Amino acid sequence: MHFPSARHYAAIKSFGGYRPARVVTNDELATQVDTSDEWILTRVGIRERRFAAPGETAVSMAVEAGREAIERAGIAPTDIDLVLVASCTLPTQLPSAAPEVAHLLGIGAPGAFDINAACAGFCYGIGQASHAVQTGAAETVLVIGVEKFTDWVDPSDRSTYIIFADGAGAAIVGRSPEQRIAQTVWGSAGDRPEAIIVRDRRSLIEMDGRAVFRWATTEVRDEITRICAASGLSLRDIDVFAPHQANLRIIDSMVRALDFRDDVVVARDIAVSGNTSAASIPLAVRALLERGEARSGDKVLTIGFGAGLTFAGQVFEMP
Ligand SMILES: CC(C)(COP(=O)(O)OP(=O)(O)OC[C@H]1O[C@@H](n2cnc3c(N)ncnc32)[C@H](O)[C@@H]1OP(=O)(O)O)[C@@H](O)C(=O)NCCC(=O)NCCS
Repeated sequence: MHFPSARHYAAIKSFGGYRPARVVTNDELATQVDTSDEWILTRVGIRERRFAAPGETAVSMAVEAGREAIERAGIAPTDIDLVLVASCTLPTQLPSAAPEVAHLLGIGAPGAFDINAACAGFCYGIGQASHAVQTGAAETVLVIGVEKFTDWVDPSDRSTYIIFADGAGAAIVGRSPEQRIAQTVWGSAGDRPEAIIVRDRRSLIEMDGRAVFRWATTEVRDEITRICAASGLSLRDIDVFAPHQANLRIIDSMVRALDFRDDVVVARDIAVSGNTSAASIPLAVRALLERGEARSGDKVLTIGFGAGLTFAGQVFEMP
């Protein structure tokens, strides 16, 4: 027998975000660990980052980002029938965050689940949302990437404390007259779980920075061409490159190695946001839109990569 099957097209309709109010400079961190503004700027490219207030949670930040994405899409919360929350820093394993985020936003009884693909989580989420819309499993999807790293980073570990930060980004994916999200390309290197790891429920994040840097600037960089090819475009057609904001040197190495146009807009939000993992790409894209550096209709190439090791990316048309 043949089950009924639907075929629709999907597009990103809007972006939203939430950045905690508290700005933490490199000089402030240098009063707590042995580091300096100059070292962080030259090795990582971060000038400042945001840390959540004590009362702020991953759920509360996700709600703020989700609310903005809903408003900017011009839809009602009740139009949404699937909510995906990508995060690797939730305070507990059970229950997942997505149902509570949906409830707090006034979204009634949607499909709701979390995704843990670390810093690749948002791109995995956009892939899942696009597939759900295309098959008819959902009509309108809220995808949120949120992290509260300050709960999981050891403030005495200078290699992680200076990098990771808090925030949330979101997007609405819905039906479209044409397919405006290209095929997602994803993969993993599960032979290196120790590269970024929380060993057990009482531990904090440990990172082998050099191993991650090497992987990102070789194997991950090579996947960018594959992500672009899956869209049927060439790198010369890409208007905006919005990679995960892990380290400015990683971003610059990717741009140098790839045949983008000279006028490609590159997201470098890491300077003011730090590494917000699953939140970094939507926050970076939102910032480009707000500053008018990216425009509706632009072809955007994203790639998320991080613990696992996992990566995922896709090309989409800017809403
Ligand atoms: C973590 C990272 C910034 C370290 O930079 P690096 O250039 O690789 O630095 P190294 O680890 O080789 O250390 C170089 C020196 O700086 C020191 N150092 C490390 N962190 C420091 C800090 N925050 N401040 C000052 N000095 C620091 C090291 O102790 C080392 O000193 P030594 O030469 O006396 O032993 C870099 O490896 C990185 O960004 N890796 C990728 C991490 C990442 O993106 N993670 C998230 C992925 S999603």
